[in-house]
Amino acid sequence: MLDVLIVAGARPNFMKVKPVLDSVEDLGFSTLLVHTGQHYDAQMSDVFFTELGLRLPDRSLEVGSGTHATQTAAVMTAMEALIDEVSPRAVVVAGDVNSTVAAAIVAAKAGCIVAHVEAGLRSRDWAMPEEINRVVTDRVSDLLLAPSPDAVENLLREGYRDDQAVLVGNVMVDTLLTNLDRALERPVVADLGLEPAGYVLVTLHRPANVDDDAVLADLLRILNEVAADLPVVFPAHPRTLARLGSRPMSERIHLLEPQGYLDFVALQAGAACVLTDSGGIQEETTVLGVPCLTLRDNTERPITISEGTNRLVGRDPATVLAAYREVRANPPAARRPELWDGKAGLRCAEAISTVLADATWRGPTSL
Ligand code: UD1
Repeated sequence: MLDVLIVAGARPNFMKVKPVLDSVEDLGFSTLLVHTGQHYDAQMSDVFFTELGLRLPDRSLEVGSGTHATQTAAVMTAMEALIDEVSPRAVVVAGDVNSTVAAAIVAAKAGCIVAHVEAGLRSRDWAMPEEINRVVTDRVSDLLLAPSPDAVENLLREGYRDDQAVLVGNVMVDTLLTNLDRALERPVVADLGLEPAGYVLVTLHRPANVDDDAVLADLLRILNEVAADLPVVFPAHPRTLARLGSRPMSERIHLLEPQGYLDFVALQAGAACVLTDSGGIQEETTVLGVPCLTLRDNTERPITISEGTNRLVGRDPATVLAAYREVRANPPAARRPELWDGKAGLRCAEAISTVLADATWRGPTSL
C-alpha cells in the first residue's frame, strides 16, 4: 500500500512540496509525486523540477488551463481515478491553488488522511479565489500544518483542535535557504546590465490587479514613475503578459518572461525594493531582508508585516509612490519569524508520521 501521495500543480507548489517529499522519504515512507498540470509551460513548471532537484512526477494529470470550475473539476476527476488505483494512506496538498482544493476534497471523500501544508492563512477577502481554496482545503483536511503562529490562531478560532493544527514553520523557506548560495552565483542581474541594489523588481498576476483595465493603468503609472528613479525588472506571468498588450511603458522597465527559481531568487536578493501582489514573495523578501510593497488591500501573511519587511500599500498611485519613497529613504528592518529555519519539511513529515502511526487519531472536527 502506498503511504503518502503528494500533489503539486502550479508554480508556487513546487518549492513547497520538495522539502516535505524529501523528509517523508527520509522517514522511510513510500511516496507518489503527482503533478496536476495546472501550470505546464517550461518556465512555469519544468524549470522548477530541474533547478530544485525535484524528481520528475510519478504521475501527470495534464489538466491544463480553464475556468476555475473546469480546472478544479478536471483535477478532481483525474485524482479520483488515481486514488482509487493507488490507495494512498495519506494525501499531502500544499498552498491555495485550484489543484490544492480539488485534490483535498477527493482525498477526504476517499477516506485518506489529508495533510494541508500552509494551513490557516486567511486574507478574509472572499473575492480572492485562493481564500475560498484555503478555507475549503482546511475544512476537509485532517492535519493542518501551519507556517506561523497567526495561522494556528486562525485555525483554533475557527474551532479546529490543537492536535490538528500544528505549527511547523515555512516550507518555502527550507527551499530558499537550501538554494540561496546557488542562486546568488547566477549572473542574471549583471546580464541585465544592472547593479545589486540598483533596480526595483516587480511581479503582478492577481486577477484583481491585471484583469481590470483601470487598475492595470494605475499600476503601470506607478511602474513608470518608479522607473524614473530606478530601472524596473518585471518578469511577467502569462496572464499579465496577455493583458499588458501594447500599453506604453518606460524604456527603463525590463519586461521579461517568467523566471526560473534560482534567477528569481537572485533578482529578489539584489533588488532595492520589490513591488508585488504575490503571496510567497512577501515571505521570501522577509527572509532576504529586502523591502517589499504589496500591491493589495489585505494579506494572508500578516507576519511578513509585523516581523518582516512587507508593507500593504493597495493600488492608489499616490499612496504607493509615497510608500516607495519612504522605504527607499528608510529601508525597514526584519526579523526572521519563528521556525522559518529550514526545517519545516522535517516537522511536516514528523507530524504526518505521528498521525499515520496512530489508528485512533481523528481528523476533522464538527465545527
Ligand atoms: C495560479 C493560482 C495563484 C498563484 C499563481 C502563481 C489558483 C486559483 N491561482 O494562478 O494562487 O499565485 O497560480 O503563478 O490556482 N497559463 C499559461 N501557462 C501555464 C499556466 C497558465 O500560459 O503554464 C496561463 C493560461 O492562459 C491560464 C492563465 O495563465 O488561463 C492562468 O493560469 P491559472 O492556473 O488558471 O491561474 P494563475 O493565474 O496562474
